[in-house]
Amino acid sequence: MGASSQNAFAGTTPLDRGAETSYKGINHMSATTSTVAPTRASARAEGVSKFYGTGDATIAALKDVYVTLEAGQFTAIMGPSGSGKSTLLHMLAGLDRPSSGEVYLGDIQISSLNDKALTLLRRDQIGFIFQSFNLLPTMSAAENIVLPIRIAGRKPDQAWVTSIVDKLGLADRLTHRPTELSGGQQQRVAAARALASRPQIVFADEPTGALDSASGTELLGFLRKAVKELGQTVVMVTHDPTAASYADRVLFLADGHVVDEMNEPTADAVLDFMKHLGA
Ligand SMILES: Nc1ncnc2c1ncn2[C@@H]1O[C@H](COP(=O)(O)OP(=O)(O)OP(=O)(O)O)[C@@H](O)[C@H]1O
Ligand SMILES: [Mg+2]
Repeated sequence: MGASSQNAFAGTTPLDRGAETSYKGINHMSATTSTVAPTRASARAEGVSKFYGTGDATIAALKDVYVTLEAGQFTAIMGPSGSGKSTLLHMLAGLDRPSSGEVYLGDIQISSLNDKALTLLRRDQIGFIFQSFNLLPTMSAAENIVLPIRIAGRKPDQAWVTSIVDKLGLADRLTHRPTELSGGQQQRVAAARALASRPQIVFADEPTGALDSASGTELLGFLRKAVKELGQTVVMVTHDPTAASYADRVLFLADGHVVDEMNEPTADAVLDFMKHLGA
């Protein structure tokens, strides 16, 4: 995992507070208009490779990957452990840079942005649900959820935030700090935080990994609804064929390559395919 992905908040680091650099080509979304659907932009990797280490110890986590994640679609990324799923997600979300190749969000070549512009773009346009939650321990659930919006100097759209909180079953946990929440509840707070600012695209790395099956189903249903009803673009890494069946499309990675894809997946079809991949 890249060091930059360890930031407590991708896109909401102290750096953001002073960042004035603007980026062009993406409409800024209003955080106060609850009826506006997210602007649609696809995410693209073009010939992306990522190497870790040097010399004999070099690991090629991604090898010349070309992929387009359609706007307004729910895409799942699957593959064996170590196949490069998290690495690909981090490249697409601008959390880490490719060793070679280009990454685009809509018309913006994000791999060529300077750190300041990239930080700003992440803050405003990209939501990321980390497997490890990355909540701030000193703040309540409610404060964690709106923190990125506050740091951006905007006012949260309270109706929207409340609807997310309700749908994720967090209404009675809002005043609690992360240490007073179960793993599943923390994961849901992390999901609410990623969606609160209505980003153009939401990336999620195994978002149901820590959830019991009822909470997992709830979260997946919520993500799917965000795609279907609000045009949200969602990209989710998962090991779970049932979770993948909520997606419109599944990409399969093996050994740093995209080896196949499946449209309108069912859990059984995904499971069958995973057996062949040896996942
Ligand atoms: N920061 C890093 N330094 C060195 N190697 C790394 C680093 N991050 C990832 N790797 C290696 O790159 C390869 C791909 O890792 P990645 O985390 O993308 O896999 P993954 O498909 O997400 O696996 P998992 O399902 O276990 O989460 C692995 O061999 C991993 O060990
Ligand atoms: Mg991973």
